[in-house]
Amino acid sequence: MEIKVLKEVKDKSCEVLVINKFEGDKTSQELANTYAVEKDRFEGKFGQTYLLHTFGKIPADKILVVGLGKKEEFNADKMRLAVAKAVKKLQQIHAKNACFDFDVNCDYGKSAVIGALIADYAFDKYKTEKAPRVEEITFAKFSEEEVKEGIIFGRALEFARNLSNEPADFATPEKLAEIASNLEGVETKVYDKEAVERMGMGAYLAVGKGSAKPPKFIHMKYTGKNPKKKIAIIGKGICFDSGGLDIKPPSSMLTMRDDMSGAACVLGVMRALKELEPDMEVHGIIAACENMPSGTSYKPGDILRAQNGKTIEVDNTDAEGRLTLADALCYACELGVDEVIDIATLTGACVVALGTYAAGVMGNDEEMISRVIKTANESGEPAWELPMFEEYKTSLKSDIADMKNTGSRQGGASIAGVFLKEFVDKAKWVHIDIAGTAFLEKPQKEFIAGATGAGVRTLLNYIKNN
Ligand code: BES
Ligand code: MN
Ligand code: ZN
Repeated sequence: MEIKVLKEVKDKSCEVLVINKFEGDKTSQELANTYAVEKDRFEGKFGQTYLLHTFGKIPADKILVVGLGKKEEFNADKMRLAVAKAVKKLQQIHAKNACFDFDVNCDYGKSAVIGALIADYAFDKYKTEKAPRVEEITFAKFSEEEVKEGIIFGRALEFARNLSNEPADFATPEKLAEIASNLEGVETKVYDKEAVERMGMGAYLAVGKGSAKPPKFIHMKYTGKNPKKKIAIIGKGICFDSGGLDIKPPSSMLTMRDDMSGAACVLGVMRALKELEPDMEVHGIIAACENMPSGTSYKPGDILRAQNGKTIEVDNTDAEGRLTLADALCYACELGVDEVIDIATLTGACVVALGTYAAGVMGNDEEMISRVIKTANESGEPAWELPMFEEYKTSLKSDIADMKNTGSRQGGASIAGVFLKEFVDKAKWVHIDIAGTAFLEKPQKEFIAGATGAGVRTLLNYIKNN
């Protein structure tokens, strides 16, 4: 979809003119007031839509009125959702272009554009019959800057969603490395298996042992003009999670190509930095591999040594994400960054706790945790803090190593959090568990089923504003 912005769209001819109505208010269009408001008593409750033909009375063929609900309750989130709703309606009537003329706060341009780009997304490259798409939208009133930023965010989201929707045989560790190496405005180093061995990343290496596809450790670096801060973002990059020898049942394995959604998020973010130009040094890190069962797999009872020297008894080969993140966290800390954020489809327990509506957030610094949660909530990606009580550590006790990789099922998201904490040194660190939010089994709000690009907006806003 192409997005444009104009001061005024009243005289522009287009297929559909999209306007808004707040509850109790009139619209900006006489025709809509006559038909929708007076004749049909269209109330304008949030999410309602009303379509009318103009029969040549104005330059647009049709008018779509979108209900925005109560004016005093309107906000950036509702802006995004309302535009998304309108775009879905445009797809339904096979409209190819539209002009949006919303009588709302001009600051909402970024949210509007993001809403349009989220809603216009389809993963149909493998389908013979393509989904109906809107080709062009022109927004009135919004500032060029807001719209430009919305487009950067929207494209990053689309990129991340595509990558996590792709089958595991497309989005392999090698493919992720290739994508990272081709990013503009970013320096990329890829470490192959031998290099990873030399770096002593025994936890990460073990996870990839059972796969025919070699692991790739990816380090991207973006340097802003006057970097005030050094930050690392780490994405869990399990290109397929079969569970390993502790193999998953079919229903749980079905969507495990999405287990690299953290990595897809980090790639989407790194790709956008050249255009966003934040004043920060950003390191994007992905320890990519596949978790597969075979004669060469790592086994329950194995003892692994992570890069920081700590030893881990493998209790369950399906708790692989934290093993790869352990070495990635060590690596990030060695870079001397001020802050580290890891983002991972880490635990089913987080899905049980929070469902698909919110990501779980933990960390070692309350102030940073609240900044990340605030940013997430303001980005349209709700997040909720989960506790990291010391007590959770007791269930990771091992008789033969420094710790086990899993403990009790109860409190599983927090237990994973306290495990990761063992691999962070002085840096401030936040862990975002997106197991519930990264991939939807059915449509939810502005998203169709499949990958959501979870974390892209949060991390981009965090990098821009901190
Ligand atoms: N990738 C999964 C977590 C997951 C579950 C992501 C559901 C998305 C949806 C992770 O590697 C995993 O298998 N976790 C186990 C940990 C357990 C063995 C301690 C889990 O959550 O069951
Ligand atoms: Mn697993
Ligand atoms: Zn996993």
